[in-house]
Amino acid sequence: EPTQNRKQLELHEEVAQFYHHILLNTKVGEHALSYLYERGLTLETIKDFKLGFAPMERTILNQVMTEKGYEEEVLNDSGLFYETETGERLNRFYQRVMFPIENHQGKIIGFSGRLLTDEKYDLTDQPKYLNSPETNFFNKRFILYHFHDARPTIRKTNDVILFEGFMDVISAAQSGVQNGVASMGTSLTTDQIKMLERVTENISICYDGDNAGVEATMRAIDLISKQSQLSCQVISIPNKLDPDDYRKIHGEDQLRHLLENNRDTVFQFKKEYFKRNRNLEQESDKIEYIDDMLASLVEVPSIIETDIYLTQLADDFLVSKDALQNELSEKRQEIK
Ligand code: UTP
Ligand code: MN
Ligand code: MN
Ligand code: MN
Ligand code: MN
Repeated sequence: EPTQNRKQLELHEEVAQFYHHILLNTKVGEHALSYLYERGLTLETIKDFKLGFAPMERTILNQVMTEKGYEEEVLNDSGLFYETETGERLNRFYQRVMFPIENHQGKIIGFSGRLLTDEKYDLTDQPKYLNSPETNFFNKRFILYHFHDARPTIRKTNDVILFEGFMDVISAAQSGVQNGVASMGTSLTTDQIKMLERVTENISICYDGDNAGVEATMRAIDLISKQSQLSCQVISIPNKLDPDDYRKIHGEDQLRHLLENNRDTVFQFKKEYFKRNRNLEQESDKIEYIDDMLASLVEVPSIIETDIYLTQLADDFLVSKDALQNELSEKRQEIK
């Protein structure tokens, strides 16, 4: 079993190097390389993240890794192949830019591949991102992209930034912000929160600015506040952009500035969130809004913080702070 896992790590390292080599040094990799340059990544970044390219050709990985002496069992268990009825091993990943995924010890244990569209091929039924499947060594709920490399900076700054996508993590790193991580295309898990809680007291959520990202932010805030002691902030990207789009449009300095300075408290974030689809000039909407805000204050442990927020709410809506305080106490009772 340990030997088997060691073989998997060796294989994954070898496969990452193979894809990286194809991207940087071969004719079939040219299109992918110019795609990444077009997106604004530098050669240094491509090397730092060991990005690669898995070509359209479906049998090549099996050929190369078999020649290198990897046994059938290792190849079959790797998650890197589909086995056909005739027992042929076809690459799981093809026509994709490859992102190697490391475990907390910095060993590559899986991949995510981003589809590279090409007018030569019909790939319309393919998902944009494809990950390695769950195996006994690749458990998505325990994996955070870039965690191993970000960890020293996370410790030093006592702060981690949680992004939605791999490209956002990479964009931030190229812009000088090294403490970014991302979950694996799934929603944040309790296990990932526990991993982060061991190395930092502060977390900033920086998901995409679109609707899906804002909703996911709400869910992440909820889980973090219920499952950890982490102090949570939110970095909102304007105009429904994601952090990588933002860098592409405004440049690296602007992205870094935004990530460092444009932080909201959870209360500020929720103030905006609960305004959506409401007209606060209208009495009924206003009452619902205040109700939602009070419900979210139930989660705030600090008395002083709660007091500050109640004062804000009272001022914003010209209601008495006593009334808000009473309402909040009632909500606390209901929950107990
Ligand atoms: P996004 O759709 O926001 O992708 O999904 P992105 O990171 O901005 O990608 P680019 O910029 O178009 O290349 C965010 C994350 O959700 C997961 C991936 O982890 C992605 O990084 N995802 C997305 C999937 O797992 N599968 C998909 O088909 C799409
Ligand atoms: Mn590493
Ligand atoms: Mn998104
Ligand atoms: Mn995105
Ligand atoms: Mn993007």
